[in-house]
Parts: sequence; C-alpha cells; structure tokens
Amino acid sequence: MSEIVTVSLAERSYPIHIGPGLLARAGDLLKPLAKGPLPVVTDSHVGEFHLAALLETLGRAGLDARPIVLEPGEGSKSFAGLESLTTELLHTGVDRGGLIVAFGGGVIGDLTGFAAGVLKRGVAFAQIPTTLLAQVDSSVGGKTAINTPAGKNLVGLFHQPRIVIADTAVLTSLPRRELLAGYAEVVKYAGYGDAAFFDWLEANGAKALGGDSNTMVRAVALSCRMKAEVVARDEHETGDRALLNLGHTFGHALEAATGYSDRLLHGEGVAIGMALAFRLSVKLGLCSGQDAERFIRHMTSVGLPTDIAAISGPRPEPKPLLEHMAHDKKAREGRIVFVLLRGIGKGFVTADVPLDAVRDVLA
Ligand SMILES: NC(=O)c1ccc[n+]([C@@H]2O[C@H](COP(=O)([O-])OP(=O)(O)OC[C@H]3O[C@@H](n4cnc5c(N)ncnc54)[C@H](O)[C@@H]3O)[C@@H](O)[C@H]2O)c1
Repeated sequence: MSEIVTVSLAERSYPIHIGPGLLARAGDLLKPLAKGPLPVVTDSHVGEFHLAALLETLGRAGLDARPIVLEPGEGSKSFAGLESLTTELLHTGVDRGGLIVAFGGGVIGDLTGFAAGVLKRGVAFAQIPTTLLAQVDSSVGGKTAINTPAGKNLVGLFHQPRIVIADTAVLTSLPRRELLAGYAEVVKYAGYGDAAFFDWLEANGAKALGGDSNTMVRAVALSCRMKAEVVARDEHETGDRALLNLGHTFGHALEAATGYSDRLLHGEGVAIGMALAFRLSVKLGLCSGQDAERFIRHMTSVGLPTDIAAISGPRPEPKPLLEHMAHDKKAREGRIVFVLLRGIGKGFVTADVPLDAVRDVLA
C-alpha cells in the first residue's frame, strides 16, 4: 500500500509519496526533476543501511549520483557543517537548474535544505526522509535551519522541497527509541487538531510501532495530510502553523536544560511537553481532566515519557526552564507562547498564560 499527499502551494506544490519500498522507485520519481550531477547528502548511519540501495536505483534511472556522507548528529547542523557541505556541493558541479537530495533524518534534511536554499541563490532539493520524525514532520513544509551557540534552528530559511519520498520500510533499521520519538510528532497532530485521528491512534498506534506496514503508512499519511493543510494555509508561520508547536515550548526548554544531549531526544521532549500542555490546560480550567489523562495514557502506553521525572540525571528545575522559555524564538515581546487545549483535537495558540500556573506544572 502506498499513498500520495500533496502540499498545495500554487506553482510550488509538491507530492509526498509514502509507502514501503519506495526507495526502489526513487530513480524514476527523481528523474524528471534532476539534471546534471545529483548530490545525495546523507549521514553514515543511514549510509551504512540504505545508501547502496538508493544509488542502485538512481544509477538504473541514468542519474549521475554524487554521494556526500556526513557524521551523524546535531553537530553537522552548524556554520562549520554548512561551510563544509556547501564546499562539497560546489565541487560536484551542481548548478541552479539541478537538484540536491537530502537522504536522512531531520538533521540531514534541515542542513541540506538550507545549503540548497543558499547555494548559488537557490537550488531545488528533494527530501528522502529516513526517520519517523522526518517522514511526518521535518521533511514537509520547507523549514530549514542550522543551530548556533545562541540556540537551535536560529539561522535558516523557508525552502520547499520539490518532492518528498517517504519509504516506510527504511524505518525498520531505526533504533526503537528514535522511532518512538518520531511517534510523539504523530500524536501531536491528533492532539492539537483531530480527535478522530487520536481515536485511530489509540486503536492502531502500537500496531504501527510494532512493524505493521499498512498501519504505519496510514499513520505517516494522516500526519503528512495535517501538516500539508497547515503549511498550505500559513506557509511562513504568521498564524496557525504555530499549532504544530504543541508541546514544543516546554520541549525546547527541556532540551536546552539537558544540554541537547542524549538524555532527551527532541520527540521525547515534545512528548513530555504535550503532557505538560494538557496539565496546564486543565489547571487553567480549559480542558477536562479526563481528556488530559486519556491523552497522556496513550503516550505512556506506547512507551513515551510524559513526566519531567522520567528524564535521566538531575531534574531540570522550573526557574531555568522558565528562563529558556522566555528566550524561545517564538516568544512575543517577552511573553511565552503556548499551544493549549480545550480538549483532545482542540488546540489554540496563546501568549496569555499566568506564569504561576506554568511554574506549578513544572514543579
Ligand atoms: N524543519 C522542520 O520543520 C523540523 C521539524 C522537526 C524537527 N526538525 C529538526 O530535526 C532534527 C531531528 O531529526 P531526527 O529526529 O530525524 O534526527 P537525526 O537526523 O539526528 O536522526 C536520528 C538518528 O537516527 C539515525 N538514522 C536516521 N535514519 C535512520 C535509519 N533509517 N536507520 C538507522 N538509523 C537512522 C541518524 O543517523 C541519527 O543518528 C532536529 O535537528 C530538529 O531541529 C526540523
């Protein structure tokens, strides 16, 4: 089973192909878009498992693939990483009429998308996401960025891919912890915007995570459909694209407080952040306790953390967490922006939240 979801952005619209085994069709799918040398940017983990298969299909389609294999990890998403990648891209001879392929998780997608966006003032790029997080979130919507010492994703641009090819079979080599972290972003869509999707996840989420291919394709497609809808309405996040940040205000602060280390993956921070957003919504009388419990119970049932106490090592304290939140790039005039909930599927964006209540849920 495979599905196609379209991101509708007039002449910049693009398809997201989702299904098992799509890597084998990547050559045919990319051929109409690629001219000249075709840089394929990946990291060594993805490279070890899947690069040979991708190069084989590209070669069969007559494409001149030029693999560039980076070190795995956030470290590549830096000015130094950008300098070295753009230098390597220039060496391939790719020009403005060409195409660059990002083949990996969110790190490879964000860095390669940014490099493509600035190289020769903009080269087209394709996303072949290989983590669940990248398939349901980072490869769709055109946000690209690198990290700086002042914070994550602070330097970047909007650059939409020409095509996204999400082969759900490549997820079988992904470590379980990474798969679960990506699932937090799936739950996020249901949480802010679709109670029926949440019902479906309660019935099917564990099955998808357990390796059932059709169920995983459905989960990825439903997530991409929701992301595509928001991006089509608000490409540059001046309005309700901010709903996608459910759990992220808390999550980013927790990631910062744990030093962006492997104590807490991004998706794990989002899972705890969503639990905190529900608890805060209950505290403010916006959401029923039953909805919050039900939402949190589903995350716990699949193995996601839902409490700050679940983070290994010293517990992040409310004061520094609040300071991180106040410095979040989404804060408006010093006021922290949250996505809160009036129930499951009923998220809204607000900067009008009493800090005492936030401090209480963090304590
Ligand atoms: N642009 C956006 O809209 C957006 C949205 C969410 C997150 N992000 C960014 O995404 C990044 C996180 O992405 P991620 O979670 O995919 O992390 P990642 O790219 O670091 O991948 C996680 C790990 O899994 C490995 N890996 C990837 N695919 C694999 C596979 N199929 N088999 C085995 N190993 C594999 C990678 O080498 C890495 O070690 C962060 O930098 C975050 O800021 C961007």
